[in-house]
Amino acid sequence: MTCVWFRATLHLCRLRLASGCGTRRKYDLFSPPVQNGARERTLSALRAVAGDEGVCVGAALREQHGRDESVHRCRPPDVVVFPRCVEEVSALAKICHHHRLPIIPFGTGTGLEGGVGALKGGVCFSLRKMDQVLDLHQEDFDVTVEPGVTRKGLNSYLRDTGLWFPVDPGADASLCGMAATSASGTNAVRYGTMRENVLNLEVVLADGTVFCTAGRGRRPRKTSAGYNLTNLFVGSEGTLGLLTKATLRLYGLPESTVSAVCSFPSVQAAVDSTVQVLQAGVPIARIEFLDDVMIDACNRFNSLSYPIMPTLFLEFHGSSRSLEEQVTITEEITRENSGSDFSWAEDEETRAQLWKARHDAWYAALALRPGCKAYSTDVCVPLSRLPQIIVETKQDLITNNLTGPIAGHVGDGNFHCIMVLNPEDPEEVKRVHEFTERLARRALAMDGTCTGEHGVGLGKRALLREELGPLAMEVMQGLKATLDPKNLMNPGKVL
Ligand SMILES: *[C@@H]1O[C@H](CO)[C@@H](O)[C@H](O)[C@H]1NC(C)=O
Ligand SMILES: *[C@@H]1O[C@H](CO)[C@@H](O)[C@H](O)[C@H]1NC(C)=O
Repeated sequence: MTCVWFRATLHLCRLRLASGCGTRRKYDLFSPPVQNGARERTLSALRAVAGDEGVCVGAALREQHGRDESVHRCRPPDVVVFPRCVEEVSALAKICHHHRLPIIPFGTGTGLEGGVGALKGGVCFSLRKMDQVLDLHQEDFDVTVEPGVTRKGLNSYLRDTGLWFPVDPGADASLCGMAATSASGTNAVRYGTMRENVLNLEVVLADGTVFCTAGRGRRPRKTSAGYNLTNLFVGSEGTLGLLTKATLRLYGLPESTVSAVCSFPSVQAAVDSTVQVLQAGVPIARIEFLDDVMIDACNRFNSLSYPIMPTLFLEFHGSSRSLEEQVTITEEITRENSGSDFSWAEDEETRAQLWKARHDAWYAALALRPGCKAYSTDVCVPLSRLPQIIVETKQDLITNNLTGPIAGHVGDGNFHCIMVLNPEDPEEVKRVHEFTERLARRALAMDGTCTGEHGVGLGKRALLREELGPLAMEVMQGLKATLDPKNLMNPGKVL
């Protein structure tokens, strides 16, 4: 096998020399017509590993795997493979490595920063066929899943156990995809983001090496054994390796849950309340901010009738006694900040309706301007800076006549402007682009970050440099060069 590959590569080199294309981009194995023979041989090697059904070159399927839910344009890979187990992932990676083909991991395609586009062609690894929940340790509150398991899939698997996995980015994303982007969402204020909830990862490197970041099978609640490689791979966005297994922390389902909605006379009052609730040590499960434009959009989209004012959606988890205490303190605080009385959602149906309104924010925003596209900004700042940045950002939106309802995980200092724009209008696209850069720089100036939970992907690489500075970037590049010296893992992203 190796021999055939070696010959194919030699043959390819000769072809390159003969056609004078040695200086062209180096990933041209798949560009017809010159290397048709090599292309066919590579495809049959991939097929020998993943089976005929596991290797697809159809245009529609490639396009489906060349984009996520962002506005970044589709960049289809040359081929999509569907491995069924880690051995296949490793064998396929070896083939790619041998031929210097880019490797792009793909979960559910629900990312928001263009992370899956095949900028330099190559092989997309769709991991959705690996969808088994492997080891559930109820008594230890942890579980190990394959990369195709989604968060909703895991929670329905856990249904009768009294346990759940709380990280909830909205979309029904795959858990390894969520680990790769360091996703979070509305529950993070209480339960943390993916960073706090991954205990171990099985990783396949670009050359096919398989290893576990915390040692095979290990899942202690704490450790001080060496560097934290798990954390290195959380948020690496497919640029260091493929995640083929994740061991995750689980939580006991709360005994009771109650949600409430509260409106405020100003953004400042809503955010001040959030800060004070957290300072008072209330273990609030969710505290979500919606500005007047966002709540108006949600009202229209879901036929609701909340007052069109800055609003907080809150949720409390705990025993009934603890709930009572949490709610009393929170009500005192919101009242002091001129908040309205709470409108309660106690039964499951009303609660589901309330959080559906929050989760539909994206579609509600889009419905403000039918036919337009949406782009979500994603900055995060220290809590105390939140009122100022939101107030300045709203002013910026108005001054520049932009539609950008604001929804935020304010308990974490993280908020989104859902920019609704006409992608056919270059002048508007430019204004939105300039606005988002100003917003990111405003966050950096306030000691914050250009991305709280969506990742760097394609569009935020320059901002990442500004955020970290050249020395930290050099360290990152050094790590990348060690783990992926041929720069095959999701090239063109993050760094
Ligand atoms: C290592 O990183 C993982 C993933 O971010 C995290 O869950 C874990 O708590 C960290 N371990 C230690 C000992 O800090
Ligand atoms: C503001 O933008 C809208 C489109 O979103 C446009 O119809 C309107 O004319 C603009 N107003 C001004 C003052 O530019």
